[in-house]
Amino acid sequence: MGERKTLIGAKITFSEIRRSFMKPVEVLENIYWVGAVDWNVRNFHGFTYSTPRGTTYNAYLIVDGKIVLVDCVYAPFGGEMMERIREIVEPEKIDYIVINHVETDHSGALAEVLKFAPKAKVVGTARCKEGLLKHYFFRDWNFQVVKTGDEINLGERTLSFIEAPMLHWPDSMFTYVGKDGLLLPNDAFGQHLATSKRFDDEVDENILMEEAAKYYANILWPFSSLVIKKIEELQQRNLSVAMIAPSHGVIWRSNPAKILEAYLCWARGEAEKKILVVYDTMWGSTEKMAKAIVEGIRREGVEVRLFRLPLSDRGALIRELLEAKGLLVGSSTINSGILPTLASFLEDLKGLKPRKKVAAAFGSYGWGGGAVRHIEEALRQAGIEILSPGLTVKWVPDEEETRKCLEYGEEFARKI
Ligand code: FEO
Repeated sequence: MGERKTLIGAKITFSEIRRSFMKPVEVLENIYWVGAVDWNVRNFHGFTYSTPRGTTYNAYLIVDGKIVLVDCVYAPFGGEMMERIREIVEPEKIDYIVINHVETDHSGALAEVLKFAPKAKVVGTARCKEGLLKHYFFRDWNFQVVKTGDEINLGERTLSFIEAPMLHWPDSMFTYVGKDGLLLPNDAFGQHLATSKRFDDEVDENILMEEAAKYYANILWPFSSLVIKKIEELQQRNLSVAMIAPSHGVIWRSNPAKILEAYLCWARGEAEKKILVVYDTMWGSTEKMAKAIVEGIRREGVEVRLFRLPLSDRGALIRELLEAKGLLVGSSTINSGILPTLASFLEDLKGLKPRKKVAAAFGSYGWGGGAVRHIEEALRQAGIEILSPGLTVKWVPDEEETRKCLEYGEEFARKI
């Protein structure tokens, strides 16, 4: 029982087969990835962020005079992580568990780890301590609060801590290992990308940067000014960063500056001369307007993409907006307001506060109208500049009105 024959006849046990899928990966000498790959997760953050490529929960084990686990994994993957740790050390030898961020995809397995690592001291910010002990686990674990500039000596290595509030939660923190030039920034610089590979140079670069951009747009965009300050702070501290190992996706080892530069571009609102036309329609009139506007933009030689909201993936649309300069939003009027799909999208924009975008509104109505006014108000609340007065059509656009929609698109394209 419990045995299989290999093709060449040698017998291997089920536990050996199981272990063969669970090897830790040595990312630097005596520093190991011991996290987990979640191939099947398709949504994050309450179905606001689609993850068609899955994700990883990265945890790192540092073996020095002291043994440290940096971050954990989502609770259902705790057993996998423990198996990987056991391949390297007995868990009871762990001295510290650094929790860079409370959110459950990184701290969920902490209680499980502490069962097997009873002498381990948990390390995190004051807000992390409050979150973990008072609001997540309701325990009184041995906890060491750290703040920016604090250090823990491990023997050959020293851990340095850098608070990173709102990147992307108030408790967030980066851990830096000076000897190796290793930055462990938790969520920052991550990607939702499940892969058997652990490093940036082992995966398709276009897919990697696409997922990194989508991650930035959906997770970090509202905190762009803090992103810029934090990267400047890292530069002012003269930290030598040879490797950035985030808590999701692959590790930036070949050129960590690439993701730092990309974050600075996104945070500064640098965008392409591209326009998104986002709309929903009741009986097709607003759609006719949208398509005429798209044709006008196209005639001006500006790149344009059209999205009907219920048919479009929210997370992917937000990612498209990250690098587009212009946004045209259209809705039919219903009950003097906008269609609910548009309302949801505009609510997102208010939270994301996209930088340096310009926009305009359009839509058809039957009686008194109201959608365009509604859209413009929401765009202003999102901090987006209204570039042109809104365009409305009563009932179905006739030939003359269709021509006006086309010219509206042309004019908007010229203005950006
Ligand atoms: Fe990946 Fe904020 O959790």
